[in-house]
Amino acid sequence: MSNSKPGTSAFTVYRRLVAYVIPYRWQLAFAVLAMTIYALSSTAFAALMKPMLDGSFVNRDASSITFVPIMIVLIFVCRGAAGFFSTYLMSSIGWNVVKRIRQQLFDKYLDLPTAQFDRSSSGEMISRVTFNVHNIATVAADSLTILVRDTLTIVGLLCLMLYHSWKLSLGFLILGPLVALIIHFVSGRFRRLSRGIQDSMGQVASVIEEAVEGQRLVKVFGGRDYEREQFDGVNERNRHLNVKETVTRAASAPLVQFLVAVALAVIVFLASSGRFVGEISVGVFMSFITAMMMLFAPLKQLTMINAKIQAGIAAGENVFALLDSDSERDTGGKVLDGKTISVELRDVEFSYLPEKQVLKQLSFQVAAGETVALVGGSGSGKSTIANLLPRLYDITGGSIVINNEDIRDYTLESLRRHISYVGQDVTLFNDTVLANIAYGQMRGTSLQKVREACRIAHADAFIEKLTNGYQTVVGENGVMLSGGQRQRLAIARAILKDAPLLILDEATSALDTESERKVQSGLAELMRGRTTVVIAHRLSTIENADRIIVMDEGSIVEVGTHAELLNTDGYYAFLQGRSGEVSARDTTAQ
Ligand SMILES: Nc1ncnc2c1ncn2[C@@H]1O[C@H](COP(=O)(O)OP(=O)(O)OP(=O)(O)O)[C@@H](O)[C@H]1O
Ligand SMILES: [Mg+2]
Repeated sequence: MSNSKPGTSAFTVYRRLVAYVIPYRWQLAFAVLAMTIYALSSTAFAALMKPMLDGSFVNRDASSITFVPIMIVLIFVCRGAAGFFSTYLMSSIGWNVVKRIRQQLFDKYLDLPTAQFDRSSSGEMISRVTFNVHNIATVAADSLTILVRDTLTIVGLLCLMLYHSWKLSLGFLILGPLVALIIHFVSGRFRRLSRGIQDSMGQVASVIEEAVEGQRLVKVFGGRDYEREQFDGVNERNRHLNVKETVTRAASAPLVQFLVAVALAVIVFLASSGRFVGEISVGVFMSFITAMMMLFAPLKQLTMINAKIQAGIAAGENVFALLDSDSERDTGGKVLDGKTISVELRDVEFSYLPEKQVLKQLSFQVAAGETVALVGGSGSGKSTIANLLPRLYDITGGSIVINNEDIRDYTLESLRRHISYVGQDVTLFNDTVLANIAYGQMRGTSLQKVREACRIAHADAFIEKLTNGYQTVVGENGVMLSGGQRQRLAIARAILKDAPLLILDEATSALDTESERKVQSGLAELMRGRTTVVIAHRLSTIENADRIIVMDEGSIVEVGTHAELLNTDGYYAFLQGRSGEVSARDTTAQ
């Protein structure tokens, strides 16, 4: 996915990049000073040719004989020091800019709406922060160095040439616009290629990520060939684009050099034939030719710099488009502050994608302290409701009201502070058990409280058996734990948060009947006096809810208690019948 807006002009991007450099203007000023000294010393070296040849050799002038060697050393000392400082200062500015942009992007990621994450692969998201931002650094440091230092060098040398003989310089200058034209033509191509390279880096990253994360599936389902093909495709595209870029770069440099060589030939002819420019001394001619030869390198750099700037601008477009994209809407000014929470959905409509409505005119209430269960077939929209309450997505119609205010009128922070959640897919971080349970706002909670939460979640026994107890690192997304253990950690985390609204989305689905019963009794204690929304497939876990809401394809089809709904003999009774073996087991247990 490319987020670059076609309307973003290179100039706008460039101006924004410059804005990042502004805090370092003093460093920049010193760097420019160093570059100026560098450029001047190059010019001075070319100029020194005149006294060296005319003074020291032709006229055997005593002062020139001592002056010229001292100047040679001095010039190179200045040039060396200036070169060092300009490189150092510019790269320091460049890396500061990278750090700042990376920080801003990372912050942006933390604020992006969930829907945007659904649309992009995490490989792309990662590659933007690493690869694209690095390309921007190349512009901020390398290219600016070359641009300022080499342009000044070129200007200095050209001035010297004009000073020596404007007629000779003219011959050289006629070729200037031609060089400019070529550079201009090559620019557009570089920018297009760079954009392609960046996108393809993102694709490479996302294929790798998929294969690495899904390695178990790859093995069991024999996905090696498929993954290899996928990778081969994006890898090849990346190679192709990079080679194309290199070819463009490699072709443009000799072309420019060829033009310079033609200019050189013309000059030598003009000067040596003596007919067009009159008599000039050996020293002046040597100085002129030296200046011209010294123009090669900076001119070549200037043609290369263009590739860098274009790559930087392409990266800038991509990164800035993301920085400019909308964050989660957090416009509510009210701070939700309540010990208890009542929830009401009024004609809620919602769709993830415009073409498919997921919730249709959905209305129900959950009074403070009440437990409401959501049941229904797979895909009926239960988890969607769980996503809407903490505003992971915003509804497209109707309203959700908490404590008599629309949830959009609350600050996101205060709304989410009041909600605790166990999702259908458990998410664990590659950190210790303790850090996973006491996560986020709960960081620093005493071990004793964490233990208590684990006891209710029925997780304490297995945690204590782990090699390092609460300090055991669980691996990426908890790979070192069993499904049921992971789920119990998630429950303990939700318990520890101690929020007045509890959402349990299939929270005990991975547990065996025996552990589920134990966790349930712990949760029952917790749910007392707390507003709770329970989603479950296993109907045995929701029989005690105050109300059961039965959903089908985004609409409510039945509402009532377990007993009421069984008596009406509707959809719930049908679902219940389907999971008959579970209730049968439960009845025998009682
Ligand atoms: N991030 C998403 N983007 C687009 N569509 C989605 C997204 N998440 C869910 N859907 C769609 O929304 C519908 C409702 O999904 P939801 O997860 O709410 O179902 P559910 O009732 O929780 O099902 P299950 O019992 O299987 O968990 C489904 O048709 C699903 O395809
Ligand atoms: Mg679900």
